[in-house]
Order: sequence, then structure tokens, then C-alpha cells
Amino acid sequence: MISFTVNGRKRAYKGPPFKRLIDVLREDFGLTGTKEGCGEGECGACTVLVDRKPVTSCLVPVCQMEGRRIETVESLGREQRLGPLQSSFLEHGGAQCGFCTPGVLMTASVLPKSTAGDPLAIRRALSGHLCRCTGYQTIVESVAKAPRPKPRSRKR
Ligand code: FES
Ligand code: FES
Repeated sequence: MISFTVNGRKRAYKGPPFKRLIDVLREDFGLTGTKEGCGEGECGACTVLVDRKPVTSCLVPVCQMEGRRIETVESLGREQRLGPLQSSFLEHGGAQCGFCTPGVLMTASVLPKSTAGDPLAIRRALSGHLCRCTGYQTIVESVAKAPRPKPRSRKR
């Protein structure tokens, strides 16, 4: 059995130890906000936070998660009550195809203070996220204009 927390809630996983973290989150825990793009660690779509650091969940086997603190896009807000970062994406057009957005949000949620309002720094910080529709400008604006994210986690 592998034990960890997901969005502040204790979870225990029993199953194949090399199952990918993204599959455990989506299939075993029903957290389908995390999306799969390339499945090869290149696009950033599947990004979640592990101990507050962005991680591509398509590359990580769940057996590496013992004792870790995992956060998914579901931790940022709810459908009827979006978090400030999500609201900014909605307002400024950063939410586009839906596959890239959850991963971008997770990385943006832990950007260092040094990136605040600095488009170039935000672009560098989000460089691991590929957007095939090339709508990077509105993503950067959405991050730059969002209130600074506060560390938090919600149960789901
Ligand atoms: S789906 Fe994981 S990096 Fe693309
Ligand atoms: S936002 Fe997903 S491809 Fe551009």
C-alpha cells in the first residue's frame, strides 16, 4: 500500500506500483481535472504539484509518492467558486483548449514572487508548457493580472 495526501486528503493506493501518477489520480481517485497531452513529459499538460513543486504526472510512477503531498487543479477552486488564478484565466482569456490549462494553472500557482507581473519571467517559468494553439499571450496576461496565489489545499 502506498500512502500520500491528495488535495489535503489522506489517500491509500493499492495496485500496481508502477502505474503512472496521472492514471491513479484520474482512474482511482476520479480527479479528472489533470489532463494527458503527450504522455512523454514534453507538453506539461499533466502537471500537478508534489510537495509544492510542479511535476509531470505522466512520467512518475505512483510508488514514488509514499508520504508525498500531491495537489491537483481541483485544489485551486470549485466550479461554482473559482480560485483567484482561475478567475483571472477566465477574465483574460487564458483558459483555451482545456487540456493545457490545468497544468499551466498548477505551475502558475507556485510561481516565485520574483515573477510577479513580469511577463518575461512568467514566460520563462511556464516554458515547460506547450500550447499548440499558440495563445501564450493571454496565458501570460492571465497569470500576470491574477492576485498572488496563496498556498492552500482543499479537500475533494
Ligand atoms: S502529458 Fe505529461 S508532459 Fe505531456
Ligand atoms: S491552450 Fe491548449 S493548445 Fe493552446
